[in-house]
Amino acid sequence: MSGMDIDKKLAVRTEGLTKQFGKNRLAVDNLDLDIKKGEIFSLLGPNGAGKTTTIKMLCCLLKPTGGTARIMGLDILKNPAKIKQIINVSPQETAVAPHLSVLENLVLVGQIYGLSGREAKRRAYRLIELMSLNERLRDPANKLSGGLLRRLSIAMALISDPKVLFLDEPTLGLDPKSRKTLWSLIRYLRGKKTVLLTTHYLEEADALADRIAIIDQGRLVALGTSEELKRQLGGMQVMTVKADSLSPAAMKNLKKIYPQTAIADSHLIIKAEKLDFNKVVDLLRGEGVKINWLSMKEPTLDEIYLKITGRSRDNEII
Ligand SMILES: Nc1ncnc2c1ncn2[C@@H]1O[C@H](COP(=O)(O)OP(=O)(O)O)[C@@H](O)[C@H]1O
Ligand SMILES: [Mg+2]
Repeated sequence: MSGMDIDKKLAVRTEGLTKQFGKNRLAVDNLDLDIKKGEIFSLLGPNGAGKTTTIKMLCCLLKPTGGTARIMGLDILKNPAKIKQIINVSPQETAVAPHLSVLENLVLVGQIYGLSGREAKRRAYRLIELMSLNERLRDPANKLSGGLLRRLSIAMALISDPKVLFLDEPTLGLDPKSRKTLWSLIRYLRGKKTVLLTTHYLEEADALADRIAIIDQGRLVALGTSEELKRQLGGMQVMTVKADSLSPAAMKNLKKIYPQTAIADSHLIIKAEKLDFNKVVDLLRGEGVKINWLSMKEPTLDEIYLKITGRSRDNEII
């Protein structure tokens, strides 16, 4: 396919998208992503992974410090005004007018987007129906529960009939029942809108997304459908070794055979699709390393994700 043909199928393409805050806080690190038209795409990652920063750059609210992105073929650096007309966002911190009713909030946003009062009302009623807000349409927004507020926020993002909809952590802090309701409402959008949804819940990405990109510390860690990720990551064997006197030479030799060798929490972690147990033990012994304990396993997607999440949460507290 030529570049043009690829572009026609893509709603979003990021190319080395990067955001650095200050001197050394790399929030988004060289991100390359393709999101197809009509796809529900999830950016999955722990707190601080760079999800909101990515969304802000794609919505032209924040300038990248490196790379760029195209939304429906338009460059975020060159065409921010045009892009803002064809996208909309339900931000992590929902922004609704607290004293206006559900209906009034929707009509107001519709009019901000240039709709006539009549058209804004027509769309507002349709979206109130779609988001099951009928019983609350006259209630002020500040009387709504978290789940209903989220539904209002999504309806407000839909009123401009955007080609690409960004949902930043749509179910953050919701109880399980409200979360499930919201999931079914978001599912309804599949194929009708391109949706980029961020979340730090693995089950959410699993339940909603056609494809998932796992990001951690601003970097793309894994990409694929839920099934592909399970195969890719779950198929990886992991060997954990607790050893004394691990020399740089031993590490170097191990890395030659298994490039994904690292030290975490003073354990030696070796990952590969196929690990040769004896080869590792022989190599370590040959280098004079004393093995105290070791384990081998094939982790599930959950485990891998928990590991990623766990580590980053630790970082955040420090
Ligand atoms: N305006 C800012 N100034 C400095 N650092 C920021 C700013 N916004 C976000 N960050 C940092 O960038 C990283 C990514 O943040 P964010 O994109 O909000 O992550 P996520 O949405 O995945 O939780 C974090 O380390 C965060 O502290
Ligand atoms: Mg965020």
